[in-house]
Amino acid sequence: HIMPEASGIAPNVTIEIGDYLVRVGDPQEQHLRTADFLQSDIPILCWPVSSKDGHVRKELAYNRIWAIRRTRLPFLAYSAICQHAACLVSDWDQRQRRLICPCHGSAYDVHHAGEVVAGPAPYPLPHLLLAVKEDKITVASTFSGHIGEHTSRAD
Ligand code: FES
Repeated sequence: HIMPEASGIAPNVTIEIGDYLVRVGDPQEQHLRTADFLQSDIPILCWPVSSKDGHVRKELAYNRIWAIRRTRLPFLAYSAICQHAACLVSDWDQRQRRLICPCHGSAYDVHHAGEVVAGPAPYPLPHLLLAVKEDKITVASTFSGHIGEHTSRAD
């Protein structure tokens, strides 16, 4: 199996500026809208979708991002790939508003630029800005840092 050549907004993802988002696991693959955040401020785990041909970019696990609504600030999204050893950052602590990696307990503060507040992750979780285009949420910037592990899983 040969991985597709990454050509997106970070060296190891195929996300592109202008991409729409769909919720991971949504069988209808509906584009994420601002209304999806009206009922709750819980982050939503998403795949990016090409705005050109509607392709859902599931070819790279690194493409998954958490879309987050912030009060009086633009939406943003964090990489869902842990900065320690690249596990999926799959858990959300609603009380402390942290994204948590279950592998070794790294915790990232989403209101302070993804800063590491617990666990072995050596760097903040990279984020990118989102924009709203005709009520749909789209990718609007490159990532703030390198996606993925900074430590070998063998460590
Ligand atoms: S891979 Fe996330 S804490 Fe180790």
